This record gives sequence, C-alpha cells and structure tokens, in this order.
Amino acid sequence: MDDSRNQPAPSPDAHPNTALEVPAKPRILSGMRPTGKLHLGNLVGALENWVRLQDEYDSYHFVADWHMLTTDYADTSGLQSNILEMVTDWLAAGLDPAKATFFVQSRLPEHAELQLIFSMITPLGWLERVPSYKEQIENIKDRDLHTYGFLGYPVLQAADILMYKAHYVPVGEDQVPHVELTREVARRFNSFYGAIFPEPQAYLTRSPRLPGTDGRKMSKSYNNAIFLSDPAPVVSKKLATMITDPARRRRTDKGNPDVCPVFDLHKIFSAPAVIDKVNRECRTAEIGCLDCKAHLAGFVNQRLAPIQERRQPFEQNPKLVWEILDQGTQRARRVAQTTMVEVRRAVHLT
Ligand code: TRP
Ligand code: SF4
Repeated sequence: MDDSRNQPAPSPDAHPNTALEVPAKPRILSGMRPTGKLHLGNLVGALENWVRLQDEYDSYHFVADWHMLTTDYADTSGLQSNILEMVTDWLAAGLDPAKATFFVQSRLPEHAELQLIFSMITPLGWLERVPSYKEQIENIKDRDLHTYGFLGYPVLQAADILMYKAHYVPVGEDQVPHVELTREVARRFNSFYGAIFPEPQAYLTRSPRLPGTDGRKMSKSYNNAIFLSDPAPVVSKKLATMITDPARRRRTDKGNPDVCPVFDLHKIFSAPAVIDKVNRECRTAEIGCLDCKAHLAGFVNQRLAPIQERRQPFEQNPKLVWEILDQGTQRARRVAQTTMVEVRRAVHLT
C-alpha cells in the first residue's frame, strides 16, 4: 500500500488520471441537492464561493440527486427538470466547465458501492448523533423520515467526498458535522484496510443568512424567494412586497433598520454609501420604505444582470447543459473507478 496517500496535503500524484489534464491544485468537492431554480440565498451562500474557488482549486461539483431522494422520495416526477434548472443556474452564475468538473451523482454507481462498504464500518451511534438528523426528524412532519436511507445520508456524503479524495469541502456551517463524520469514516477505513483516504476539511464559506420576502430564511419551499432567473420587474415587485420594520406603519413613522429584513439585503447587495444612507435616513423617516426598496432592487438587478445574460444560451438550448454534465460525469467516472479499484483491493473484494 502506498502510504504517501494518507496525506491531507495536496497530492496530485494520487490522481494520475487527472494529473495530465489539470495543474496540481488541491481538490475541492461539493454537492447540491437538485431543488430546481436557484435563488439569491443559494447565490451568496454557495454559488459565488464555488465560482471564486474554481481558479485556485481542482473543483468537483455534483448534483446530489440520491441525497434528494432521502427526503423527497414520494414524488420524484420533477427530478430531471430540477436538475436541468439548477445546473443552468450554476452555469449562469459563472461556474465554468473548462475549470470545474460537474456531474450527476446517480450516474456513478461507484458512489453507491462505496456507501455500501462504508455502511459496514459506520456505527449507528455516529449517525444518530448527527445534529441535522434529530432536527429534521423533529421538524419535518409531512413525510416519514424514519427510513434507512435518511439515517444513512451522511454515509453517502462520506462516499461522495472520499471518492475524490477531496482536500476541502466548501459547505455552510450546517454541514460541518457531516464532514466531521466523513473524517471519522476515513480514519476507521484506513485503520482496517490501509491508508487510502486523506481526511478532508470543511472549507467554511462566508454565508450570511438571507431573509426572503416574508422575513424568514429565503427558501424555495417558503415561497419567499427571489430567483436568479427572475426578470428585473419581478425582482422589483417581490421586493416591494417584502416585509419591513413592523413598527414602521406610516411613511412618517421612524424606522429601525436593525430589525428590518430589507436592510439585511441592503447589507449584502448595495453599495456602502447607500447602506449608510438608508441606515441614517430610515431612522429619521427621511427615506420611505418604497424608495428604500427601489434602491435595493437596483442593486439586486445589477448583480443579476450578468447572470441572466450568461443564462440565455443555456436556457435556449438545454442540450448544452446535458452535454456539459455528460462530459463532467465521464471525467468524474475516471476518478471514481480508480478509487474503487483501490478500495476493492484493500478490502479483499477482488
Ligand atoms: N448534504 C449536502 C446538503 O444538503 C449536499 C451534499 C451531498 C454534499 N453530498 C455532499 C455537500 C458532499 C458537500 C459534499 O447541502
Ligand atoms: Fe426597512 Fe428601508 Fe423601510 Fe427602513 S426604510 S424600515 S430599512 S425598508
């Protein structure tokens, strides 16, 4: 066994199949569940980070369709259109197939095989104490999550990550326990079968909590989202209906930006001078909410304009998107197959 592979440090030699094509960069991997059209929360929470990282890292991004099934198993009819919409938004946001590899999880049965092997060595207690498990079992009441697949979700995630021997996993805070569990799985596997997997690290990305139009966290399922593909007038209209400081009922009432979700969006999208101005003039009632929201709409639409322009060719020709996914899947497959040969050998399955 080649012990040099058990290094968390960048080790381009561990990937002979890609060493010829890409410069020696540390590898990142991240997945996204195919929820369909992406919104501003997805943009500032994940996508913009992915785009920023693609120059410096050997980037792998995948559509976590099997992960989607762990919760949304009852009706899968929209799955393919959701994949298409989501990946169209990835491309629109500037994720570049010449720099990053994107693929669809379920097209690589290697992930399922590795998950199965990991499931043999993952103690139930590790899974039961993952915080998101308990939380979701308690909060999601409209479907039965007492399934084998849902409990095993983090094992599948460990397989996704370790398959590519990723050094970093760019994720939000909520996913950190999953990356921690991945490290434990890697350690346990290595201790039984030899040093194959490096321990990945979470790459914590700055992801401000983005309120939707009703003030709750922006989420497709809350119906409060502004989508990357919303035309400028739709964005303006949605923002015009957004809730504000609830104590500011009349134009002449003084407001408090600190409790206003519109101001939270200003802080993310607007120019510093405008943020300062709103912060002052709201408190004195010099500025009204409608004007304040119109300013914000201007900045949001400015941020969305290049995204929507890049989106056009892909929207008009979805075949392009599927082709990009096919090519990425082929590239990912070569890595996955190499890893699985090593794994089967290590576990004496050949
Ligand atoms: N669990 C992640 C989420 O819900 C998605 C995901 C699946 C993922 N596999 C992954 C993220 C591997 C990073 C790495 O957002
Ligand atoms: Fe919120 Fe702007 Fe109205 Fe102040 S002026 S309450 S920040 S929307």
